[in-house]
Amino acid sequence: MTDSKPATQLTIDNSGIDPQTNFSANPDFSAIIESRMARRRFLKGSVGAAVAAIIGSSLTGCNSSDSETAPAPVVPPVAGLPLLGFAAVAAGRADTIVVPAGYSASVLLPWGTPLTGSYPAYLADAGNNGSDQEQQVGMHHDGMHFFPIDARSTASSSTEGLLVFNHEYIDHNLIHTNGIDTFPRPAEQVRKEIAAHGVSVAHIQQQADGSWQLVNNSPFNRRITGATPMALAGPVRGSSKVITRYSADGSRSRGTLNNCGNGFTPWGTYLTCEENWAGYFVNSDATPPREHSRYGVSSRNGRYFWETATPAADQYQRFNASIQAATASEDYRNEPNTFGWIVEIDPFNPDSVPQKRTALGRFGHEGIIFGKLEEGKPVVLYSGDDSRFEYIYKFVSDAPYYKNTAGGHLLNDGVLYVARFNDDGSGDWLPLDINDADFMAKASAAGAEFTDQADVLLNTRLAADIAGATKMDRPEWGAVHPDTGEVYFTLTNNTRRTEEQTDGANPRANNSTGHIIRWNERETQEAMTFDWDIFLLAGDVGTETPGTELVLDADNHLASPDGLWFDKNGLLWIQTDMSGSQQGEGPYGNNQMLVADPVTRQIKRFLVGPTDCEVTGISATPDMKTLFVNIQHPGDRSAPDNFTSNWPDGGSSRPRSATVVITKDDGGVIGS
Ligand code: FEO
Ligand code: CA
Ligand code: CA
Repeated sequence: MTDSKPATQLTIDNSGIDPQTNFSANPDFSAIIESRMARRRFLKGSVGAAVAAIIGSSLTGCNSSDSETAPAPVVPPVAGLPLLGFAAVAAGRADTIVVPAGYSASVLLPWGTPLTGSYPAYLADAGNNGSDQEQQVGMHHDGMHFFPIDARSTASSSTEGLLVFNHEYIDHNLIHTNGIDTFPRPAEQVRKEIAAHGVSVAHIQQQADGSWQLVNNSPFNRRITGATPMALAGPVRGSSKVITRYSADGSRSRGTLNNCGNGFTPWGTYLTCEENWAGYFVNSDATPPREHSRYGVSSRNGRYFWETATPAADQYQRFNASIQAATASEDYRNEPNTFGWIVEIDPFNPDSVPQKRTALGRFGHEGIIFGKLEEGKPVVLYSGDDSRFEYIYKFVSDAPYYKNTAGGHLLNDGVLYVARFNDDGSGDWLPLDINDADFMAKASAAGAEFTDQADVLLNTRLAADIAGATKMDRPEWGAVHPDTGEVYFTLTNNTRRTEEQTDGANPRANNSTGHIIRWNERETQEAMTFDWDIFLLAGDVGTETPGTELVLDADNHLASPDGLWFDKNGLLWIQTDMSGSQQGEGPYGNNQMLVADPVTRQIKRFLVGPTDCEVTGISATPDMKTLFVNIQHPGDRSAPDNFTSNWPDGGSSRPRSATVVITKDDGGVIGS
């Protein structure tokens, strides 16, 4: 047990009613093209800059600029580089974590770890009840960020901080002792399942022996679940389409669900991303609204049948969105409309109310990533919609960023754009804005009506359809190069794309192995046009990426790239989410993590996960000497009495999602 002192607490904006101002941008094309060429020249020569820029930039990112020269390193390069000096690990199917020689991996905070309240012990037979789960680490770890304990000041601690991580979904065969077999669902089981979703905030500290441990009884330790009260912020707050029995004025919602990737803000808050939320609801009405149908809300039942919970209670009936009463304030017809958002959480204020930032759009958010920060310029964020033939989006704030005043209000007012990737390598950001005449003309031509910007945002996918966005092969995580601002996105796979549906940005029919696309904005991050290319076509040994010298080999063949992250040295970390059959029968072995030099395209496999897992979620201490990686759903194909993995506890134990802590045995920088 360790005494802890709360860091300076900042309260994130709870109002959601900041005044809106107009956005405008009129780029000068000749300047843009020259800038683009200059940026390309810079990128080609940036290996040394990437190495030199090691470590120093703080969480606030306040020293960033958009200049064409590399920023001066805040901390000199660490001896012992060059990067990518390790020997690649082989693909494999061992039920363990494999990392390169000279590295070590240990397990931290597995599902069920006591985290808050009365610290109920984890029961190996899954016998913990809902009340226990509300005080324990949730299931199916995913996106994650390490906030140094001094994140609000120097952001320099590499030995103590808040590890914040998502719990995407649950496995019915593992969360209860005997799985599930009774319908309607017992309310106690449903309570546990809702509690296993959401987010964990864990105060962790490195010990004298180098290991990391939870700081028990820290005031920062917190569970946010599928039932935690939240606020709606931004244009949708107060809309008639988010009025429910729980919130007659449309200002509140309960819980966050299916949180996949993540983001974090320069002002020290966490962003969690609601991905496949639609599956949790049912709407059996004959003609469900477009806010439900375009997102795939079922007409039969919710994924886990929570709406059937018995004895019935308001917190479970809300998952039935069928019209059942005279007015919206008497039932839950609008409950699904309060999901599909990016949620901002202040981990340093345990009493803070999470804010659903509706201006960032409503879709199957995989993750979210800031573009480069520049004092006095708008903030720019990118987010992908992970479903087949869905889109990539960009948000540009109305208000400029200033380090000293930055906060959640920047995410409440701005313009949401969707990407069109032209076959000539250029791209356009298309506004989804009720104030944009072209957009509204397209909507009119399509026979679609929007009453206000809240209506546009609630129907983001429809708006993007109308705008003419490029249908992508399942956009997953994005990453922004710390020096150049170049943006990378994984496109995990899309086996339904036909030959006729291929295009420059999605060039393969039956794309079972996925690819990574990247782009540079023209001139500024908030530009309306960009230039893109394919960084990597994933696949078996021998797979080539046209126009490059990259040919995959045994050290780096991969499929279904998903998690993506730039470290402070400019290395690109790639995590895979192959399906069970792709792992079981393909040439790739278990899901894995690789690391790439974005300039040379040298790629090496760094980690292979245990059986039937997904490798997802990644963060590091500021000194890059401790890396945190999440292992999700080991033993994914288990039955209640037959586990396909026993990781991490071994023996014949129940598999548990967990964080893995990776260090270099010589105390060096991860990736060197
Ligand atoms: Fe939850 Fe798109 O992976
Ligand atoms: Ca994912
Ligand atoms: Ca995935």
